[in-house]
Amino acid sequence: MKSFFRIAARLVFAACVSLTAAACGGKKAESGIDYMALVNKLNPLPAGWEDALKTVTVVNSVGDEVEVEEKAYAAYVRLKADLEKNDGIFLELDSARRSVAAQQDIMDRFIAKYGADYAAKTVAQPGFSEHHTGLALDLYFRVRGDDGAFADVYHNEDMEKEEYKGIWDAIHAGLADYGFILRYPEGKEHITGYRYEPWHIRYLDSSGTARKIMASPGMTLEEYLAGKPAPEVRIDLGKSALYTQEELYDAMLAVKCRFASFAGCELHGVRYAGDEANSAENLKWLNSLADGAEFVQVAEFLTDFHSPVEDGPYAWERDSEYRDYQWWLARAKDGGWTIVSWGY
Ligand code: DAL
Ligand code: ZN
Repeated sequence: MKSFFRIAARLVFAACVSLTAAACGGKKAESGIDYMALVNKLNPLPAGWEDALKTVTVVNSVGDEVEVEEKAYAAYVRLKADLEKNDGIFLELDSARRSVAAQQDIMDRFIAKYGADYAAKTVAQPGFSEHHTGLALDLYFRVRGDDGAFADVYHNEDMEKEEYKGIWDAIHAGLADYGFILRYPEGKEHITGYRYEPWHIRYLDSSGTARKIMASPGMTLEEYLAGKPAPEVRIDLGKSALYTQEELYDAMLAVKCRFASFAGCELHGVRYAGDEANSAENLKWLNSLADGAEFVQVAEFLTDFHSPVEDGPYAWERDSEYRDYQWWLARAKDGGWTIVSWGY
């Protein structure tokens, strides 16, 4: 996660600082952690994780301390060295293991700076972040300016620039050889719950498993563990005289990210319902649902999905196709989309 409030004068660029093995005896410490553990919007950090976790703490190029699970760190060091040697890419670690309190802090800052919509697509709820495991690493890199001096590229909006796509492609191409996967691939927001993050990689402690996942572009850890790939999702942003395709794409992403919380459901299609949903009546209705909201525009999306096949604590009719399931989004002047209501 990109830090916002970095102290201006960061001086130190150090190697490994300390080994903070949290081993405290007992069964968990002997058996260690499960490197294939799934932590996402539906699965919190497994109980007892911290008792078994062994980490190292390092200092990055901007002077921030970063704590990483020890095997993940050793693999990262090899990845970094090889990228430097073979591709001239200078990798850095922005963030790895985070406490629940640190995650809450990031969530609060993201909501304040970018709004709740962007935060929901980008930051996990405290307790449900893969960063709690120490196995998730947020990368950034350093590039040389015309004067030959290094500059750090670490803000999300900078790292996402088109000019750096080649750098990310080169980084991603070799990840699996070191036991890492790209955790939040583009197009799979309805499964991971998060928008594409080129910087967020996950250590699996098995280059064989990582290669199997990375060999199918866009495959997620969720799909690999479920043993079946998810079907393609039909996306139709339609035509609009009110919104640009970019604005509709953002709204569609918000829907997909939220859909990831529909446990056991399989998304088949998302489409924009049309400009007529932006009526005075709907605006009044959505403003009445959100306390103190000052929404000025409305967008409706429709989804098709399949309900869980297995029995479980679901409100859905089991093993059924749901069509035209509605999502109502609204936004205030100059604000991002908020999902205000959903259902039939
Ligand atoms: N950015 C990822 C989703 C997290 O906050 O854990
Ligand atoms: Zn991350």
